[in-house]
Order: sequence, then structure tokens, then C-alpha cells
Amino acid sequence: MAGTAPQQSDAEGVDGGVGLTALLVAAARAIETHRHDSLARDVYAEHFVRAAPACADWPVRIEQVPEGDGNPLWGRFARYFGLRTRVLDDFLLRSVRTDVPQVVLLGAGLDTRAFRLDWPSDLVVFEIDRAGVLAFKQRVLTDLSADPKAKRVPVPVDLRADWVTALTAAGFDPGVPSVWLAEGLLFYLPGPAETYLVDTVDRLTTAGSALAFEAKLEKDLLTYRDSPIYTATREQIGIDLLDLFDPGPRPDSAGALAARGWSTSVRTPFEFSRRHRRGPLPEPNDALEGNRWVFAHKPRP
Ligand SMILES: C[S@@+](CC[C@H](N)C(=O)[O-])C[C@H]1O[C@@H](n2cnc3c(N)ncnc32)[C@H](O)[C@@H]1O
Repeated sequence: MAGTAPQQSDAEGVDGGVGLTALLVAAARAIETHRHDSLARDVYAEHFVRAAPACADWPVRIEQVPEGDGNPLWGRFARYFGLRTRVLDDFLLRSVRTDVPQVVLLGAGLDTRAFRLDWPSDLVVFEIDRAGVLAFKQRVLTDLSADPKAKRVPVPVDLRADWVTALTAAGFDPGVPSVWLAEGLLFYLPGPAETYLVDTVDRLTTAGSALAFEAKLEKDLLTYRDSPIYTATREQIGIDLLDLFDPGPRPDSAGALAARGWSTSVRTPFEFSRRHRRGPLPEPNDALEGNRWVFAHKPRP
């Protein structure tokens, strides 16, 4: 399957299915934003939550949660998303230099980095997600008269279909370096679509490019159905993450990149919690145990 675009497409929005997970992350970012010790600030996040009927009663501040940080979903899990946002903000800003003029956000969801981060001038940010998600996002941002800090190019396409044609038609230039991000995405895709994605990023990148992605060790997808995080997410907001994750075997994407000469570093989120002195630490029956953040760089000669 590697090298061939898997064929499939639909146009679901943020009302349910995997699109609703974009709102879950937005709610977590809203909560993080209002913390006195926030790791990342996203002033747009709560507007997405407020604009979507599907999450009208979700909190956007930890004070709105009766158990506060004791709530596994809006406490620990939301803090995880706050930490992830910060770490990947830092990765992107470090990786983008004056000779790296383009960023591609894969499964961008309600990521507002094009609006939040201080990018070099002339940077282009491509946001790939399904049409319904990007349409909802655009409506909210337009209502807010939000101004991007980079040239922002939404690319509505399903990552299980031929997304390369859409990306290059939108202006992506494979002849110059690029930085890519797949945050909270790969485990929703079928294994062959992930393999195709990683092969394609390798094919479309020059030396000096970088990619970060979040992965889960396979065991994690099967073992933690009754963990506090997954149970709370299912019971409190009706999102069964394990049902949304693709059930098939996962490819070793970090290994595939290393085999092609990329330098890779595979880290646990807990390492960053310790570094920032905030964020989740290991606990029993922990759905975050198998999460890995992978940072890959295509070396310059
Ligand atoms: C958990 S959200 C993460 C969004 C964003 N990266 C973030 O961290 O805020 C997962 C996103 O992946 C998108 N996604 C999942 N499967 C997809 C597919 N086959 N094609 C395009 N986007 C997809 C969903 O629509 C959703 O916006």
C-alpha cells in the first residue's frame, strides 16, 4: 500500500465522530488558557466550544468543573492537551527558519497556530482537515474577525484520499523545506493511510525539513478501555475514543523515517511534564502510558 493513496472520503463536521475530537481539544485549550500557570494560550479556543451545539454544556474554565482538577477529563486529560500544545508550538517555532517558508498542519482541526504564533514574515501555513471541520472553523474565525499572523491556506480534503493533489494545488512547494505536524491524528487513520502519509511527507520534503507527530504504542489502544481518562471522556461527553481509533495494526513510522535517513527522537509526554513542572505524570491504568511524541528532522548535507 505504501506509495498509493488510499481511496475514501466523507464530509463530516464537528457534530460527531472524529470531528468532535477537535472540539474536545479546543475545550482543553480553553481551560488551559484560563489557568494562572497556563502552558499555552489560545484565545480562540473557547469561541469554538461556544459556537458548537454539540458541546454547549462543556466547560471552558476549570472553575466550571465541580471536581476541578480531580476530574480525569477536564483536569488531567485537558492538562495533557495543554502540554502537547506548548511542546508542539515550541517545536514548530524552533523548526521554522527563514529558509523554511511553509508549515503543513495535518488533521489541523481547530488548531489556531496560524493566528497565535509569531511566525517569520511570508510563512505559509497549510491546514488539512475534512471540509466540514474547516468550514466550522472558518465561520467562527470570521465572526471574530480573526487575523492570521501568516498566510493561511485551508485545504479541505480527507487524509484517507489523495490529499497530495489538493495540497500541491493549494500552493505547497515540494522544492523548498517545510515543517509538518500530525498532532492527535495518526491513531484515527487506518495503518495504510499512516504509511502513505509518512512516505509522502518524505517524498515531498527537502533537506532541512521537519515533522512531529503523536503516536500511541499499540498495546495502549487495546488495554485501557476502563482507564479514568477514557471512562470519563465516554461518560461525561459521549466520546468513545477507543471506538474512534483505528483498530488495525500500527506501522512503525518513527522507524520508517529513521530508515530513510531522518534523525528521530521519540519522547514520552511525562518527560515534558517534568521539564515544565506541569502536566500529567504516570499513574496506574494510565491511557497516556503509550503516548509518544516523535520529532523527526531531515538532515541537511
Ligand atoms: C483530536 S483532533 C486534533 C486536531 C488538531 N490537530 C489539534 O490537536 O487540535 C483530530 C483531527 O483529525 C481530523 N481527522 C481525523 N481523520 C481525518 C481524515 N481522515 N482526514 C482529515 N482529517 C482527519 C479530525 O477531523 C480532527 O480535526
